[in-house]
Amino acid sequence: MSIVADDNDFAIKKHGGKNPVIKAESIEFDKNFENCIRPKSFDTYIGQSALKETLKISIEAAKKRELPLDHLLFYGPPGLGKTTLAGVIAEQMGVEIKITSAPALERPRDIIGILMSLKGGEILFIDEIHRLNKVAEEILYPAMEDFFLDMTTGKSQTVKTLRVPLPKFTLIGATTKAGELSGPLRDRFGIIHRLEFYTEDELAQVITRTAGILNIEITEEGAHAIAKRSRGTPRIANRLVKRVSDYALVKHDGKITEDVANKSLDILKIDHFGLDTTDRALLKLIIEKYDGGPVGIETIAAAIGEDVRTLEDVCEPYLLQAGLLQRTPRGRKVSPAAYRHLGYKNTPPEQQGLF
Ligand code: ADE
Repeated sequence: MSIVADDNDFAIKKHGGKNPVIKAESIEFDKNFENCIRPKSFDTYIGQSALKETLKISIEAAKKRELPLDHLLFYGPPGLGKTTLAGVIAEQMGVEIKITSAPALERPRDIIGILMSLKGGEILFIDEIHRLNKVAEEILYPAMEDFFLDMTTGKSQTVKTLRVPLPKFTLIGATTKAGELSGPLRDRFGIIHRLEFYTEDELAQVITRTAGILNIEITEEGAHAIAKRSRGTPRIANRLVKRVSDYALVKHDGKITEDVANKSLDILKIDHFGLDTTDRALLKLIIEKYDGGPVGIETIAAAIGEDVRTLEDVCEPYLLQAGLLQRTPRGRKVSPAAYRHLGYKNTPPEQQGLF
């Protein structure tokens, strides 16, 4: 198995008429870092244990039937390992994976080109699949269902539809917003799974593994100190390992201990809940300017100078699951736990006992 492209969020390359698959050569340093620590098998992939077990069964069944795996949809917050898992599946199936992202599939010929380049059994991974446009979606329907492309030739009265056969392939879609996927597209996935936030223990294992690959010395307590502030997200944990390792090297002897990790994370302004300055700005704004809420997301975004999508996709999932924020039909509200966490003595009367 070789990953011919990588996931979108760092390396989306504007394709300007070329194949929208993102080429491995374009991956810069950060991406190389992610690739070299990316687990390649279920044994080295930490966490998501229930999901791994069901996937192993699906993979074994597909192999016994000598058929490709059913189309799969992974959803959940960013950084939890959707792309990594797709790579592991390809490895286990012994097939190639082509990785792209919905925003790179702007024109019909982008998706048609990728579909026609697939060989039997291969995996096509589409990240941010909720952002696929209507035309691309309609091209995908017969491709997913019957492994055909419906092509039209000619104009108005002479228009003809041509059914072009495709090799049997597996589509793996990933999204942070399952609710934004159209019903017909969602219905075409045989297997749909949510990825969960990682526990502190799982993140400590991820951190220890990454440190081992990068030859960074770390104690168990050091790994847990970073894990506690990684918001349940391995991508964040791995980034923090690098940052803390820089600090350990410059200010100490290079070894990450609990004390070194905590000092370094304090300097990075990542608090004990893993909240960064943007998270705290969001919560403080709602508390100080809107009495704890509710307040609309657009208002929050404008006030703290972030875009709505970043707040919804990156900040909010963890704040919601940590019980610091609540989404209501009238807007966002903060919880008494958020007041306490940020050091406020009183919560508004109407919020007391809400959570
Ligand atoms: N690096 C990022 N995600 C990982 C995971 N789930 N297991 C091991 N290492 C990782």
